[in-house]
Amino acid sequence: MKKLRIGVIGVGGIATGRHIPAFQQFTDQAEITAVSDVNVHRAEDVAKQFQIPLFFSDYKEMFEEIDAVIICTPNKFHAEITVDALEAAVHVLCEKPMALTASECERMAAAQKDSGKKLAIGYHYRFMKESQAAKKVMLTDEIGTPLVIRAKGLRRRKVPGWGVFTNKELQGGGSLIDYGCHLIDLALWLIGNPKHTEVSGSSYNALSKIPNQVNLWGDYDHQKFNVDDHVTAYMKFENGASLLFETSWATNIRDDEEHLSISGVNGGINVFPFELYTTRYNMLFNSAPIWIPGEEDPGILQAKNFINACLGEEELIVKPEEAMQVSQIIDAIYKSSDKVTVVE
Ligand SMILES: NC(=O)c1ccc[n+]([C@@H]2O[C@H](COP(=O)([O-])OP(=O)(O)OC[C@H]3O[C@@H](n4cnc5c(N)ncnc54)[C@H](O)[C@@H]3O)[C@@H](O)[C@H]2O)c1
Repeated sequence: MKKLRIGVIGVGGIATGRHIPAFQQFTDQAEITAVSDVNVHRAEDVAKQFQIPLFFSDYKEMFEEIDAVIICTPNKFHAEITVDALEAAVHVLCEKPMALTASECERMAAAQKDSGKKLAIGYHYRFMKESQAAKKVMLTDEIGTPLVIRAKGLRRRKVPGWGVFTNKELQGGGSLIDYGCHLIDLALWLIGNPKHTEVSGSSYNALSKIPNQVNLWGDYDHQKFNVDDHVTAYMKFENGASLLFETSWATNIRDDEEHLSISGVNGGINVFPFELYTTRYNMLFNSAPIWIPGEEDPGILQAKNFINACLGEEELIVKPEEAMQVSQIIDAIYKSSDKVTVVE
């Protein structure tokens, strides 16, 4: 069988920390043959470190050498590079969020349809063992129609001090578009991506603008901090379900918290840690598995799914329309939040 030749664009933290090591495990099916970065010295160093034959500064020159590409640049470049790759008949795995805005996502989805190539988005929370287990349960009648979903991703004092995470122009926002997007994506996927009918939200950037903050994830310039560090939202869906949402990079709470739970008409489910809440024999049951199948590193399953989808052997788990819905909701939260006046 011919191996899938893969390239990587933007070889910073996520490319070298997750994607390259994960994809290099599938030596029978795929091979990373090239990398590209605007910082060509970085491309060269990474190629050397991971024994990748080719490196480029211009990603377009790489397309002739590959069948698929992983896009790991700042968010601003996701749409343009994805469209270029699909037009060059190259499959794409693009990091999350899909793009800066939903209208950019629409361009990407249209390019995918025209090309007939695969387009996956790096919402890797779906590949966690607990998420895969939750999806299995949600496909049965155990929980029943979902009524209320609670999704939370909170960090106490962890504004990312490296890279460009606090640069609004390059990233499009802060805690919501960077971190909260994972929890929204996972919640929507578990309930079958019903259409959203109402979204309202509030975003804050008060705390991280104050000088000399305690921050556990490095230094950032508080004077230039112009993205959200805390967001709340409420969403309604056409099936009647509602989602209560909160995310933060830096808030005053006891501990960091990741929470996703769904209460349905028949039962309830908690994803982290995985638990089921049911009624049987006129009793209330809480059950937790003592073993869950799957990989500890969700990057492995993500890589496997993308390779198999490109080879025509499996369906993609993260589809472009689903990732686009997350971006539509993010747009709506930011828009709704713009209308909120914070009284000083
Ligand atoms: N799935 C996750 O949980 C997760 C985690 C971290 C980052 N990410 C996403 O991955 C992307 C990259 O994040 P990172 O932490 O690796 O950032 P990073 O700053 O460590 O790396 C980005 C790399 O892209 C290069 N680059 C910048 N503009 C480019 C361009 N136009 N063309 C080619 N290369 C370019 C930079 O030189 C740098 O080497 C972001 O979209 C981020 O949201 C996802």
